[in-house]
Amino acid sequence: MIGNGIIKTSIPGFDEILGGGIPVGSIIYISGSPGTGKSILSTQFLIGGINRGEVGLYLTMEEPREKFVSHMERVGWNIRAYEDSNQMIIIDYPPHEVDQLTSPSNPLLEIIKDYNVSRVVIDSILPLAISFDTDYLRKRAFFQLISNISEWETTTFIVGEETSFNPSNGIPVLKYGFETIADGWIHMYYVRKRMERKRYIEVIKLKGMNHSTRLHEFTVSKGISIKP
Ligand SMILES: Nc1ncnc2c1ncn2[C@@H]1O[C@H](COP(=O)(O)OP(=O)(O)O)[C@@H](O)[C@H]1O
Ligand SMILES: [Mg+2]
Repeated sequence: MIGNGIIKTSIPGFDEILGGGIPVGSIIYISGSPGTGKSILSTQFLIGGINRGEVGLYLTMEEPREKFVSHMERVGWNIRAYEDSNQMIIIDYPPHEVDQLTSPSNPLLEIIKDYNVSRVVIDSILPLAISFDTDYLRKRAFFQLISNISEWETTTFIVGEETSFNPSNGIPVLKYGFETIADGWIHMYYVRKRMERKRYIEVIKLKGMNHSTRLHEFTVSKGISIKP
């Protein structure tokens, strides 16, 4: 953390387009279709913290932890070493246990305090979102989740869903509405231009920050690197 309550993601080019970094304690929603780079960006956010002496927690809700670890090792990060030194905690949630996240007893609070976790990733919110029968129950659970996260006092990335676009304003249309309750919203694109696809990232909102209003091209090799 730097003095003014802004944390650096340390992802090349990202802090610049965020307007300096992310206000401590923010909940940032990351959307984009499959394969756009949401999990890589989120892992790199934790590694940025680890390189500054912070501890990160990754909650993998869609794939088992072993699959997540080997995926990120192929990107080029020694995740097992981070785990061994308690710099990164990885927890996988089977679908029938996702409701723990929205339990008023906040069972993750203890682990977050014990390990002094300051950055959290929830990848993704989808298994939780689809576990409710009605919009009312889902909304109530989301507000409980926000309340639980605020007790964690962490800066948190929540990975979201695939989107379509509103043709009138070009804004992604999301089905479960988490972007409206988050403090920030980042959207990732993988668009075809002639015979090639290019990746772009956009800061759609970030409370309190004078962020970029453009789409920025990025590349994936050993992690994500965003062009100015
Ligand atoms: N080592 C790598 N070098 C270049 N591109 C990679 C590498 N690893 C993954 N990718 C790209 O990143 C994509 C997966 O990113 P990921 O963060 O898992 O996407 P998402 O979580 O949005 O589904 C892959 O489909 C591939 O295009
Ligand atoms: Mg993913």
